[in-house]
Amino acid sequence: MRRPIIAGNWKMNNALAAARDLVRGLLEQADDISEVDKVIAPPFTALLSIKEILRGSSIKLAAQNIHYEEKGAFTGEIAPAMLEEIGCDYVIIGHSERRAYYNETNETVNKKIFSALKHGIIPIVCVGETENEWERGVTREVITNQVAGCFADLSKEEVAKMIIAYEPIWAIGTGKTATPEQAQEVHTQIRELIARGFGSEAASLVRIQYGGSVKPENTAALLSQPDIDGALVGGASLQIDSFVEIIRETARLTV
Ligand code: 13P
Repeated sequence: MRRPIIAGNWKMNNALAAARDLVRGLLEQADDISEVDKVIAPPFTALLSIKEILRGSSIKLAAQNIHYEEKGAFTGEIAPAMLEEIGCDYVIIGHSERRAYYNETNETVNKKIFSALKHGIIPIVCVGETENEWERGVTREVITNQVAGCFADLSKEEVAKMIIAYEPIWAIGTGKTATPEQAQEVHTQIRELIARGFGSEAASLVRIQYGGSVKPENTAALLSQPDIDGALVGGASLQIDSFVEIIRETARLTV
């Protein structure tokens, strides 16, 4: 069985003081939950300070974005080596908000995956269809395209260690969630695409998170699906209680 992984994407929330409080609370309540990989993705300005608080703990650090160039004239961007230096373990790449507002494409996602891997940072790569695509019944095509574009030219070993997050855009921050069966269907499709492109071993190892209005009440139903290996949590990761409860629910499923 794949080890479950719960990640909290704080998005553009929590300045330093709030970020520190949240992390201290998480450490108190969730550090010793050993059945689950736990990751938090604070904003850039809090990364270094949070890393220091997390030192020696079981909670890992993620950035929310990365640039694909090593350095240079890219005002406002953060280079992969800068994230490596801070000790970022993971980086979220290709979140739908970045695709929608900052022109992120499957091609830039692909380049960012390469640069993260080069610097020893594990990518959490987001895919997912819009509401309109969902209603038109073209989710399969959209996912096929995203998987092909995002993972082009990667080796099977690289794919095996990555995290993929399926986030139907219509479920993000809306309170609407894909049913466990709907999510499972897309996760199965993603795993089949990985098997076809990178072999069955990579497909059985790669972990696929679901994201989109995950909360304590729907965690168990979603994560008990065979191909849902974790969750990428937005809103519910901003409160200590709800994020810890999601981690606990996930740990309960492993016994
Ligand atoms: P919500 O959990 O707030 O729907 O956000 C999901 C998400 O976008 C995580 O990356």
